[in-house]
Amino acid sequence: MAGLSLRHIYKRYNTKKRFNLINFIKHKGKPPKTDKEFVAVKDFSMEIEDGEFIVFVGPSGCGKSTTLRMIAGLEEISDGAMYIGDTFVNDVDPKNRDIAMVFQSYALYPHMTAFQNIAFGLKMKKVPGTKTDKNGNVKNVMRHLTKEEIKDKVRWAAEVLNIEEQLNKKPGEMSGGQRQRIALGRAIVRNPKVFLLDEPLSNLDAKLRANMRAEIVKLHNKLKTTFIYVTHDQVEAMTMGTRIVVMKLGVIQQIDTPTNLFDYPANKFVAGFIGTPQMNFFDVTIRKNGSVLETIFEDGQAVNYKLDSLRKIDVKYLDGEIHKVILGIRGEKIFVSDDGLKTSLTIKEVLGDTTQLFLHFTEDSKDFIVCVSERADYNSGDAVRVKFSEKNIHMFDAETEVSIMGREIGNK
Ligand SMILES: Nc1ncnc2c1ncn2[C@@H]1O[C@H](COP(=O)(O)OP(=O)(O)OP(=O)(O)O)[C@@H](O)[C@H]1O
Ligand SMILES: [Mg+2]
Repeated sequence: MAGLSLRHIYKRYNTKKRFNLINFIKHKGKPPKTDKEFVAVKDFSMEIEDGEFIVFVGPSGCGKSTTLRMIAGLEEISDGAMYIGDTFVNDVDPKNRDIAMVFQSYALYPHMTAFQNIAFGLKMKKVPGTKTDKNGNVKNVMRHLTKEEIKDKVRWAAEVLNIEEQLNKKPGEMSGGQRQRIALGRAIVRNPKVFLLDEPLSNLDAKLRANMRAEIVKLHNKLKTTFIYVTHDQVEAMTMGTRIVVMKLGVIQQIDTPTNLFDYPANKFVAGFIGTPQMNFFDVTIRKNGSVLETIFEDGQAVNYKLDSLRKIDVKYLDGEIHKVILGIRGEKIFVSDDGLKTSLTIKEVLGDTTQLFLHFTEDSKDFIVCVSERADYNSGDAVRVKFSEKNIHMFDAETEVSIMGREIGNK
């Protein structure tokens, strides 16, 4: 078991244009364009405590797998320093890093049974042992595991993962979820310091995913080893991680607990990425006027929010001048109220116990979503008036899209 320290890690790929005939003709025989560098991971810094369950999340191509592969040693680190426990590992071979990785494709051997697949890595493994020579002297040596020891470990893994009945089957005779467990079994018998999992559930159907998600969390609770889990599914991230790293274009956007990410997103990207339905955003202007914040929406409607009830706003925006900001609010934090903002209903979606109202201010403005718990009796085109829960309002700078609010409520 060990923690990890990633210090200013970069991954640069050289995306050199290869010679090919089409390009050669297209560029009229001139040499291909100069070498280009693509930075897949930029200045990634993070301290991971022993036993944490960390999730890397972000859209496709944001550098999640690249970071994980650098931790595993499968990808060279271009810049920065990586430690597993106290050991500097930049130059340490993958097999000597004491890490187990589970991939999206289970990568099982099809001709071997589940038992043989799980046992495979153990046959190579050496452990400290002793040997008695002919003079009766006992020496310390590295030895292979005995058949019995291997059997015990595989049985233990099978029990933990609830696959005791599957051990004699070959991968072809198993369901996706069972295969995934075999792949996990192969990783856990090695008793690694760190588990790396790269989208291990993406081949499974929705129900099985939810089951396996819970299984992996249980497994983490049992083993208490450091887990790093990659996904682009924010629900997986929110339900599994003790801390989540949100990435975009190779750059960390925020590292935080699931609830903090939800309640206090550091920027508009995180706010929009975490939570379903997506947070609603409005271009507004704000101006402090005594104890209220005059907020004017796109269509000219104005609301005075009590500064006392809003989360703390950077004082720079409270100088009495007009500032352009992005106001964010989740659909569950908007409610229908007779003296609220005037909007019209585009459509409604009844989802069983909740109804989503798609509303717009003007014909040209984008829809925003309000979640109501009752079977709201509205029709397209109806006027609906809504109010925002003041303490759940988020604000972001219009240019940088960075949050301008602190975590506590109340402005002086
Ligand atoms: N060998 C390579 N050469 C050049 N660019 C690469 C190479 N491998 C990955 N990249 C680029 O690095 C970026 C990050 O890739 P990475 O595989 O880490 O993304 P990801 O976040 O895991 O995405 P996904 O969710 O699709 O798996 C991508 O833009 C990708 O095109
Ligand atoms: Mg990936």
